[in-house]
Amino acid sequence: MNKDVVIIRGESVADVAAALAGESEIFIVHDVNVAATAASVAVALPAVKAVIGIETSEERKTMETAVELCERLLEADASRRALVLAIGGGITTDIAGFSASMYKRGIRYANIPTTLLAQVDAAIGGKTGVNLHGYKNMLGAFHMPEFTFLAPDALAGLPAKEVRCGLAEMLKTFLIGDADAYAAAISLLSGTKTLSGLRDFAVRAAEIKAEIVRRDPLEHGERAVLNLGHTFGHAIEHCSGGKIAHGEAVGKGIILAAKLSESLGLAEKGLAARLKADFEGAGLDVECPFGIKELAAAMKKDKKDGKFVLLRGIGKPVVMEVSGDDLCKCTK
Ligand code: GLY
Repeated sequence: MNKDVVIIRGESVADVAAALAGESEIFIVHDVNVAATAASVAVALPAVKAVIGIETSEERKTMETAVELCERLLEADASRRALVLAIGGGITTDIAGFSASMYKRGIRYANIPTTLLAQVDAAIGGKTGVNLHGYKNMLGAFHMPEFTFLAPDALAGLPAKEVRCGLAEMLKTFLIGDADAYAAAISLLSGTKTLSGLRDFAVRAAEIKAEIVRRDPLEHGERAVLNLGHTFGHAIEHCSGGKIAHGEAVGKGIILAAKLSESLGLAEKGLAARLKADFEGAGLDVECPFGIKELAAAMKKDKKDGKFVLLRGIGKPVVMEVSGDDLCKCTK
């Protein structure tokens, strides 16, 4: 996978049309909940061959759904020149990207994320996939999108839960990559949240992620830091049976990772309490309702193989294996 990571800070559908000028076969795949957005993009593009709505949920993020999407591409005569344009949140871009990676041994795709979480994380960097038996993203492929288009209006009208999920991933990126942006974002989020202010931070987070992925697209090393909060987070999501959404679980997971960092002597005492106060000030519930035994059982099936992203401090991530005994120290 040697494609660049392209982020377009767009202003209107005219910018989407400009980015796709010269395409001959565009297949829009959208979350049914953003059908109006998909329709407005479709009318602005001359080469749209089909508009395909998919229902999105963690339960439906499966191989069957990805194969169904490939079948619909086949029925609509998508050739190897086709480009899939995914419009929706992270579940949509993960399924559409994964289907694009399989269809006719791989066709191109591009993302227009419509949630904060997808804008700052899921729709960037080419990780695509689906769940298996309730375990996150166990089947997947690295397949880099042609671009990720950050639309200005994507954040307006997002449900509060969606905003909270996106904020957790955004703060995660700042915690691993930009201590100044972290402090500035916390200051904004603890006061009046303005959409324009949030958009600037979302774009900054997207750019930080893009820089990391450019250096390590296949996660041979550095890219793993983007998984801060995810080893705990995936286990929390799994234990909750899907009731706790991905971003919410990542927020809780980050605080557990900070506690673990302290208990291993990596971070100074007080880091976890500070992050907890910051996150709560930003409106995030970071209490974890599960004990370590439950979490550890779910972690065994995760792809992270016992590896955790920990913090030496804000902006200083470190990836390391942690023993079961050490794990017990950070949670009840
Ligand atoms: N969500 C983490 C990554 O894309 O590497």
